[in-house]
Amino acid sequence: MRVGNSVWASALLALSTPILACESCEHPERDVVMTRNVRRMQPDAQNTTVEPRGPLAWGQLNVLHTTDTHGWLEGHIREQNYGADWGDYVSFVKHMRQKARDLDVDLLVVDTGDLHDGAGLSDATGVATYSGVNGQLSNPIFEQLDYDLLTIGNHELYVSAIAYETFNQFAKAYGERYLTSNVQIRNPSTGELEYVGKKYRYFRTQKGLRIMAFGVLFDFTGNSNASFVTKAADMVKESWFVDAVNHKNVDAFVLIGHNPVGLKSSTNTLQTVYKAIRAIKPDTPIQMFGGHTHIRDFAVYDDKSVGLESGRYCETLGWLAVSGINPHGKANPKGVPNPTMKAQKNGTTPTSSSLASSTSASSMRFFRRYLDWNRMTFEYHAEGSQAKAFDTTKGLAVTKNITATRKELNLTSIYGCAPQTWCLSCAPFKSEGSIYSLLDTALSATIVTKERADKPRLIVTNTGHIRFDLAEGTFDYDSSFIVSPFTDAFQYLPDVPYHLASQVLEGLESGNYPSKRDLSSADFGFTQMNPSLDSCIDPPVTHDHLVTKRSYPGGRIIRRQTTTTPGYTTTDDFGTDGDDTIHSKIPYYSYPNFFQSNGSLPANGTLTADAPVDLIFLDYIAGSVVKVLNGLGGNYTNDENFTTNSYLPKYAQMSSEWQANVPHCPVGLGIGYNITS
Ligand SMILES: *[C@@H]1O[C@H](CO)[C@@H](O)[C@H](O)[C@H]1NC(C)=O
Ligand SMILES: *[C@@H]1O[C@H](CO)[C@@H](O)[C@H](O)[C@H]1NC(C)=O
Ligand SMILES: *[C@@H]1O[C@H](CO)[C@@H](O)[C@H](O)[C@H]1NC(C)=O
Ligand SMILES: *[C@@H]1O[C@H](CO)[C@@H](O)[C@H](O)[C@H]1NC(C)=O
Ligand SMILES: *[C@@H]1O[C@H](CO)[C@@H](O)[C@H](O)[C@H]1NC(C)=O
Ligand SMILES: *[C@@H]1O[C@H](CO)[C@@H](O)[C@H](O)[C@H]1NC(C)=O
Ligand SMILES: *[C@@H]1O[C@H](CO)[C@@H](O)[C@H](O)[C@H]1NC(C)=O
Ligand SMILES: *[C@@H]1O[C@H](CO)[C@@H](O)[C@H](O)[C@H]1NC(C)=O
Ligand SMILES: *[C@@H]1O[C@H](CO)[C@@H](O)[C@H](O)[C@H]1NC(C)=O
Ligand SMILES: [Zn+2]
Ligand SMILES: [Zn+2]
Repeated sequence: MRVGNSVWASALLALSTPILACESCEHPERDVVMTRNVRRMQPDAQNTTVEPRGPLAWGQLNVLHTTDTHGWLEGHIREQNYGADWGDYVSFVKHMRQKARDLDVDLLVVDTGDLHDGAGLSDATGVATYSGVNGQLSNPIFEQLDYDLLTIGNHELYVSAIAYETFNQFAKAYGERYLTSNVQIRNPSTGELEYVGKKYRYFRTQKGLRIMAFGVLFDFTGNSNASFVTKAADMVKESWFVDAVNHKNVDAFVLIGHNPVGLKSSTNTLQTVYKAIRAIKPDTPIQMFGGHTHIRDFAVYDDKSVGLESGRYCETLGWLAVSGINPHGKANPKGVPNPTMKAQKNGTTPTSSSLASSTSASSMRFFRRYLDWNRMTFEYHAEGSQAKAFDTTKGLAVTKNITATRKELNLTSIYGCAPQTWCLSCAPFKSEGSIYSLLDTALSATIVTKERADKPRLIVTNTGHIRFDLAEGTFDYDSSFIVSPFTDAFQYLPDVPYHLASQVLEGLESGNYPSKRDLSSADFGFTQMNPSLDSCIDPPVTHDHLVTKRSYPGGRIIRRQTTTTPGYTTTDDFGTDGDDTIHSKIPYYSYPNFFQSNGSLPANGTLTADAPVDLIFLDYIAGSVVKVLNGLGGNYTNDENFTTNSYLPKYAQMSSEWQANVPHCPVGLGIGYNITS
């Protein structure tokens, strides 16, 4: 028995023109007729209601840090807490730079990579109907911000066309400020390897601090053959690196990396570089900025060295203030709080860790904060430096550009109104608030054809094909990228005996078949041939859901405000006071790797063991499904063929509940809010 596809192909033909290839996302944008009028942040965005906990401390050197923006430059339109857009951020940075000048201290603005694969603004340019690459329109918007230091992420390297776009366009826009200390690319015109950006940057800050900076990607192996990633352990032996570290006049090293900062993280190679620097320069401050694991985190390395990681998806803006780097700088600006924390883990005495550490006493003090990405936060912290209103000319222009680009890409074209919020992990699996309960209904309703509508069918998919929560409000073309961007297609086996078909889910979940391992491995098959496979799984799927979500178990928070909203509750090496806006914890529930939906099963009772059912599954688990079946005594082969999966847009269009309020979709508060309130 061979895997076939024709029936399911025709099922989805009604929705959009199918593309029998997996290189590009396929979305039924053409069907959409209603477009909603839009206003400012992005005009359709929500305002938060809760102010930050208090002013930021400012020290001798201050840093604003973004990472893993993944195309979310429009902000989170349907969430209160993260409603600012890139234009608001551009305005904010301008005010903060002015404030730094007023306080006579330094401010650096830093980004640590992963620029696209996450939202429509970046991803809608990579689909077949657009025929460009992801990030093609979003990168030029990103570039409106004059960063001081940036580095490359793994998402810039999966697809050769994107790697070259990064090399030819993005890297050129930032010049010496784009650091790729261990990432090279093959120049197509010469055939030679060249650094994508620069290996290091040695510069003086406005106040005269002499900085040596590196940008180091973790030991990534999933890149296309266009690029070459040198392992950190090898990079630190290279003579250019040793020479740079030996530079005589360095007040501080700034080590940025698409790389987790947690010392326990196995993929963290910043610590390899840290140790190599310490071996040569035992007492020079080393400040690290990381990313990739999409969490808020702060780690103490030694009494002169800390690492900050600032979340993901334009939900978080990181702030680090450091004083005491060298005795000549202005350590304690007046009129603002100053950093007071020694680099020491909360609740511990100075560490005797396995890391090399500095050898002389430190008078350095530190402060870190994770800012929620919204206008109220930006306005609050910029206050005192605003000659005029918050918005700058450039900020407004960027906001307008985003609005126009969203329109140009049809991102605001509505499929329907999501009547509630469904999340991946904030509600028990398949409960009312779980996105898998919605998918159960949507799959059953959409993965069906006229010809075989009466045949019982089981539909098996992996849970990981959903990338993000679905927030109450407009479900538009943009949402289709945000929630379920994958191009995985449905295949099916007709007339599989029920006793075999009904055991497939359990077989897959058991982990006795390769699928589970494949799905969790770090270099999970995301190749140039099929970029869709994990273009959106970042970090690569792990079962450690705890580290990829917004809220992870932390200590008790002392509530100074009467109202708290659900969101980040972070615990890091400095304790539990890092979140700028105090939130209540969003609950976390685990979910399995696979789930099953069904259709046309008898209403009463069950099917007999040998009753024929259609077994439907996503193409990229087809190999595992066939193995499970054959392991159960079947005889199946896996022939390649695909259709597209646009079932949520189709469901949104066919559900009368989702159509009732179009085009004026009531919007909810955001993810993690009680869905019944
Ligand atoms: C958000 O607040 C601003 C004023 O700060 C107001 O002009 C705007 O209408 C508000 N937006 C929404 C969606 O409430
Ligand atoms: C990279 O791989 C592609 C596809 O396999 C091949 O066509 C190309 O020649 C390779 N390029 C290099 C530089 O090895
Ligand atoms: C947005 O800005 C970029 C860079 O300046 C420009 O190339 C692009 O045309 C603008 N797009 C729109 C829709 O205004
Ligand atoms: C947006 O929709 C319009 C009208 O349906 C269509 O002509 C245009 O090609 C679409 N643009 C993109 C980028 O999909
Ligand atoms: C530091 O840890 C102690 C317990 O070890 C805790 O009571 C305190 O709240 C923590 N401080 C911060 C700022 O998190
Ligand atoms: C079929 O789906 C319904 C609705 O989710 C569920 O209650 C039922 O248990 C499913 N049956 C099987 C055999 O999976
Ligand atoms: C289910 O109902 C059908 C007719 O509606 C009947 O033929 C069949 O015997 C019933 N099966 C069971 C297990 O009750
Ligand atoms: C499996 O099916 C193929 C044809 O589809 C047949 O040639 C082969 O003999 C079958 N093997 C077994 C063990 O039944
Ligand atoms: C896949 O489908 C296409 C179009 O229906 C068909 O031409 C091709 O032969 C199929 N490939 C396989 C391996 O069945
Ligand atoms: Zn990322
Ligand atoms: Zn990454």
